[in-house]
Amino acid sequence: MNSLSSGRLARVLDNLHRGAEAADRDYMSEVKADIEASGTTLEQVIAEKLAEERADYRTIYRDRADNFLAVSRAYGCFLYSIARACKATRIVEFGTSMGISTIYLAAALRDNGGGRLIGTELEPTKVARARANLDTAGLADLVDIREGDALDTLQDVGGDVQLLLIDGAFALYLPVLKLVEPRLKPGAVVLGENAFDPGYLDYVRNPANGYLSQPLPVDEGRGNEFTVRTA
Ligand SMILES: C[S@@+](CC[C@H](N)C(=O)[O-])C[C@H]1O[C@@H](n2cnc3c(N)ncnc32)[C@H](O)[C@@H]1O
Repeated sequence: MNSLSSGRLARVLDNLHRGAEAADRDYMSEVKADIEASGTTLEQVIAEKLAEERADYRTIYRDRADNFLAVSRAYGCFLYSIARACKATRIVEFGTSMGISTIYLAAALRDNGGGRLIGTELEPTKVARARANLDTAGLADLVDIREGDALDTLQDVGGDVQLLLIDGAFALYLPVLKLVEPRLKPGAVVLGENAFDPGYLDYVRNPANGYLSQPLPVDEGRGNEFTVRTA
């Protein structure tokens, strides 16, 4: 059973990926042009972005309320596969946006026989759009999207988590991981999409912290970290 290839889900995802491309085209071009014009390296640009987010991530993401900033189709299929492979029944997602990654993960829960996905999103308009998209996909019954700051909304995730997707404000990867950590048992998988924060990477790559971690070669190796809880 692979509901990703069912007509309904395939159509919903196709529409959403096309919508994401159209909505984010100008923003992505601006980012590329800024990097080229600044004459700096991608590492420097990321370090600046991290510093800006540390100062005020709420304003930054409020300004991006109309942007999807979504995972690629390839990464979405990877999310589905991992959630199936670890037979996830409880998934936590930091950074729901319009719900594209959520749909891939919730489809895996459905095909695993059921479960719960706890998602969280700062922007109220995105929460409404994500809920509507999950409804259209026929997956709303599996998902609890919590509106607000992950640092508050993920305080209680209700049970052990087999898969954690971290895809929100770059500066919060480590605090969010530490928040959910007590619910991650050996074998749980943590995926950092856009995991650029050196503090986060140092933490998950240090076996003394109870993780085994490595970069993933998807999407041209662009900041994707694959981590397994070992302790
Ligand atoms: C990269 S996008 C997520 C994309 C989504 N996972 C997908 O693939 O469709 C990051 C999202 O995280 C949200 N976000 C940023 N900081 C947050 C926080 N502290 N709490 C909850 N959501 C946050 C942003 O508003 C934004 O929509």
